[in-house]
Amino acid sequence: MKSTLVVFGGGGFIGGNLCTIALRGGWQVLTSSRRQHAAIPAARWRQVDVTDASAVQRLLAEERPEAVVDLAAVADIDRAQSEREAARAVNVEAARVMAQACAELGAAFLYLSSDAVFSGAAGEYREEDPVEPVNYYGETKAEGERPVLAAHPGAAVVRISLALGFPVTDGNSFLAALDGTDRARRQDR
Ligand SMILES: NC(=O)c1ccc[n+]([C@@H]2O[C@H](COP(=O)([O-])OP(=O)(O)OC[C@H]3O[C@@H](n4cnc5c(N)ncnc54)[C@H](OP(=O)(O)O)[C@@H]3O)[C@@H](O)[C@H]2O)c1
Repeated sequence: MKSTLVVFGGGGFIGGNLCTIALRGGWQVLTSSRRQHAAIPAARWRQVDVTDASAVQRLLAEERPEAVVDLAAVADIDRAQSEREAARAVNVEAARVMAQACAELGAAFLYLSSDAVFSGAAGEYREEDPVEPVNYYGETKAEGERPVLAAHPGAAVVRISLALGFPVTDGNSFLAALDGTDRARRQDR
């Protein structure tokens, strides 16, 4: 029987790509977000707002996945800056709830963090360097890491830098935005 992977934020840029790769790798994938994005063939979808702790706990208790990846986020830096409460609820609180539920169920848990936990002033950062975010998005990612590691001793926190690529369905892709801007500019000429 296939192992189940739950991907919160599976309709987003990184989520769509991860779900596609996981399906290819033989996982049974359940993708979850608030609204249904263009379907990824063979992935199941469940609607959950991750700020609803009991809905997250219910989904995980019912699915009993082997692994859970948290990609649900207010990942737009400007939006996080202006909608702080929403950003904190998703990027920090929801991650803590997921980590806790996964620890209780014995599921592996991965929280995708960001190099935005650092200012970039020093460079060549190591894992143990003190965080020094320069915007609220970075603050929430740094803050989200701590309760995850406290709640789930086996959790993985992975800090990536800007991911370049195109979305499978929807999402916050810098390259797609740039491509769109470039196309619009060329059409204007
Ligand atoms: N892209 C990058 O270059 C990059 C770099 C470093 C770290 N990261 C991290 O990677 C993760 C994914 O980023 P991304 O670029 O793929 O972002 P994205 O395309 O904006 O995807 C985020 C997803 O989160 C879901 N979401 C937001 N609020 C939610 C809520 N309340 N309940 C349920 N789902 C919710 C959204 O789906 P709905 O709107 O449908 O709910 C969306 O699909 C984030 O944790 C981000 O911090 C990304």
